[in-house]
Amino acid sequence: MSQFDTEGDLNLSQNRRQWAAENIDAPTRRLLEEDARCFLHQSLSTPCLNVIKSASGSGFEDTAGRRYLDFHGNNVHTVGFGHPKVIAAIKEQLDQLTFCTRRYTCEPAIRFAEKLIEIAPPGLDRVLLAPGGTTAISTALKLARVATGRFKFVSMWDSFHGASLDAISVGGEAIFRRDIGPLLPGCEHVPPADNRHCPFKCGASCSLACADYVEYVLEKEGDVAAIIGETIRSIPFIPPPEYWKRIRAACDKHGALLILDEIPMGLGRTGRMFACQHYEVTPDILVLGKGLGGGIFPLAAVLCRGAMNSSPHTAMGHYTHEKNPVACAAGLATLQVIEEEGLVEHARVLGEYTMDRLRTMAQRHPLIGDIRGLGLILGVELLKDGFTLTPAADEAERVMYAALRGGLNFKVTKGNILTLTPALTLTQAEMDQALAILERAIDSVETRGK
Ligand SMILES: Cc1ncc(COP(=O)(O)O)c(C=O)c1O
Repeated sequence: MSQFDTEGDLNLSQNRRQWAAENIDAPTRRLLEEDARCFLHQSLSTPCLNVIKSASGSGFEDTAGRRYLDFHGNNVHTVGFGHPKVIAAIKEQLDQLTFCTRRYTCEPAIRFAEKLIEIAPPGLDRVLLAPGGTTAISTALKLARVATGRFKFVSMWDSFHGASLDAISVGGEAIFRRDIGPLLPGCEHVPPADNRHCPFKCGASCSLACADYVEYVLEKEGDVAAIIGETIRSIPFIPPPEYWKRIRAACDKHGALLILDEIPMGLGRTGRMFACQHYEVTPDILVLGKGLGGGIFPLAAVLCRGAMNSSPHTAMGHYTHEKNPVACAAGLATLQVIEEEGLVEHARVLGEYTMDRLRTMAQRHPLIGDIRGLGLILGVELLKDGFTLTPAADEAERVMYAALRGGLNFKVTKGNILTLTPALTLTQAEMDQALAILERAIDSVETRGK
């Protein structure tokens, strides 16, 4: 397993050990050891890096009292951490009703579903809630099977749709699929729209051969239930403007549904409420999650066309916390905050500002091979040189730890891409602070490498 296969930095590395030796104090180390004794060890999490004591707004504080701007936040910090309006809504709901027994409904769930439908792309007017993104993906897959009477799925290599067996069957990341035994039958993978690693070698003259290939597979199989993809992969990989239109047309031609997973990218991160709006495409099923519960409650949603509300005898979700009133109160307050604070437009404007700053930064730093972004999903790809396009993986990890020393948290994806996903409430001053930390970190690694 190489770091180029993974969507996060791996737990064990020399750079990490060195950072820990310099930065983890004795009380924190004790907590980390206790954590590592209780929790199952797994790639990408336990043993953990550090211990968080509190989180608010755009960042968190560790147990040693250091504050970090969080440019990772697992993408749950859409409205920042601990937004006061979300907390107030939760507290109020706690005094009213804390759980909704199955076969009953409750007003917070109804109001939340109505609000979701109001903001959703037109035509998506049915909702099913789930206690997490992965479970919502499971529901979406079942819904597509039931709606089409077909069982096959086409999805993208390198994609991520959650860590359960059905989600990794359509997912395309080796770290989740390897050594785990048989996966769901009928799942076929195609190359993603990633011109950097395009197997069709289109290069600059991209004619969307990857979209043609999807259509070829749909035609050959003839009975695919749905294509499932992340509208924008949070590395980020941003498909060309025509990509999803081509996929939508291919789905329509071959009777397949289109499921778009916008669990991390929906709700404004890309500078539009939903990433599919950049592509002028409406999926049959849209999946949301992550920040939907205000970054406090695990909450996800499946939105679909009304015509798919046609199988009342199938238990589609059936999750215990499906209509949890406290989660729904958090969800409704979150959607209101996104609107009231204009966070979608803010993400667009701050994203454009940041891309300009990163472009200028790239001119000063030979390590920066590529930058890309849309709204507040931004990526800085580090390369050994611009000719061979060799990934600068060790350098990327050292930049990450140098930035941590300066008070900026982000993750490295695919080994050499610095993935930057701040809270949508981040101010321009905080962005300037983060970029200054990032540039100092890159500087220090470039200087050491000389
Ligand atoms: C694109 C995408 N889909 C699905 C999921 C799974 O969501 P959850 O971790 O809430 O189950 C994630 C989580 O990172 C994701 O990024």
